[in-house]
Amino acid sequence: MERENFGNRFGVLVAMAGSAIGLGNLWRFPYLVGSYGGAAFVFVYIFCVLLCLPIFMSEVVVGRRSHANAYGAFKVLAPGTRWKWLGAVSVVTPIIVVSYYSVVGGWSVEYFFKAATLEFTSGATQAGMSTMFGRFISSVWSPIIGHTIFLLLTAGIIIAGVKSGIEKFGKIMMPLLFVLIIFIAVRAATLPGAGEGLRYLFKPDFSKIDASVCAAALGQAFFSLSLGVGTILTYGSYVSKNENIIASSTWTATADFLFALLASCAIMPAVFAFGLNPQEGPGLVFETLPFIFANMPLGWLVAILFFLALIVAALTSSISLYEVGVAYLVEEKGLSRRGASVLVFAIAWILGILCSLSFGPLADFHILGQTVFNLFDKVSANVLMPVGGLLLVIFVGWVMKKHDVIDEMTNGGTLSGNRRTSQVIYFLIRYICPLAVVAVFLTALIF
Ligand code: TRP
Repeated sequence: MERENFGNRFGVLVAMAGSAIGLGNLWRFPYLVGSYGGAAFVFVYIFCVLLCLPIFMSEVVVGRRSHANAYGAFKVLAPGTRWKWLGAVSVVTPIIVVSYYSVVGGWSVEYFFKAATLEFTSGATQAGMSTMFGRFISSVWSPIIGHTIFLLLTAGIIIAGVKSGIEKFGKIMMPLLFVLIIFIAVRAATLPGAGEGLRYLFKPDFSKIDASVCAAALGQAFFSLSLGVGTILTYGSYVSKNENIIASSTWTATADFLFALLASCAIMPAVFAFGLNPQEGPGLVFETLPFIFANMPLGWLVAILFFLALIVAALTSSISLYEVGVAYLVEEKGLSRRGASVLVFAIAWILGILCSLSFGPLADFHILGQTVFNLFDKVSANVLMPVGGLLLVIFVGWVMKKHDVIDEMTNGGTLSGNRRTSQVIYFLIRYICPLAVVAVFLTALIF
């Protein structure tokens, strides 16, 4: 069967950046910056992104070399070995991630409607916003409806296909996303008193760097670059043979980093201008921001744009998670693209409902001492992603032939500019990255 490819270089870039840029940038990164000491965290994060870049390239190499889905890739590159089990895990994990990711995506849908119907009115208090959020996520129907809408949107783009769904949506939405976030950042940075927030973001206090800051930063780099669960591998399999893997990976990581910084520039100055606490944690986007929007000039417009940006960013990421399962079912099990999409929808929808209810009626239903949502989040982010990433770099550094890896990164030696760099990257893949991932994993276990 003829496999689809991304159409051109810009298409590859928006698809990969679309996967990377998501709730991780707009929601997770800013609250981590707030919780882990501002610029010091940003500073460490830069090193972590550099360290994750070779892992990103490894995933693209495996995908493009095999031209297969996350499971098939290992059957092609290491036939008859147990590496296919890594492939199997790489197919299951993204379905777990997409189920809880789309619950948070559903919250964004609900908050977009709240913003559009001008529900964040002036005079709102922060306590009021926290109560509103708490009531909303613990109710039964509204979050499930949001989750369903979000997952249906994801499925719709997936059914449209790789080129006319994923690539086309990214080409329109990613530039829009940058425009939206720049607009919001400029609005926030020109609030009276915003300077303190910018200093907090850009003037590091190095004494704040400790082991927990490093662990959080490396974990975030993993999450934000979509590593360790077969999504970049699957997208890599749609990259055509004349594409420059080193360049497009580097561009993707750069865009992802810039977007995280822009998101923080949109949020932190406002937090400081209103004298709020940056260490709010996960509630920052849904509790603190609506309060700020309610009380700033043009806030209603900024609120609508912000939650629109949140939905768009989350969608381009959830399609990358969803595509892993679909590609597997189509290529390994012979399902039609539509049939595969319906099956993945059914699984993710039911698992997502359990996640959603775990904030309300199922709050007391615990597995291993965790609610369903927390279990999915913790097991995938702290265990499956780092283990998947670790095994993947070991596969590329120690199982694949060096010649093949270099060949992929230089397009058979034709990209002469990549010859030296690819040697350095190969060294990082073989020695440095595995050690670094083991370090995060151990730290994550200890905390
Ligand atoms: N990177 C995305 C974000 O920042 C989320 C995401 C997409 C992801 N695919 C992934 C996270 C694979 C981990 C693994 O929101």
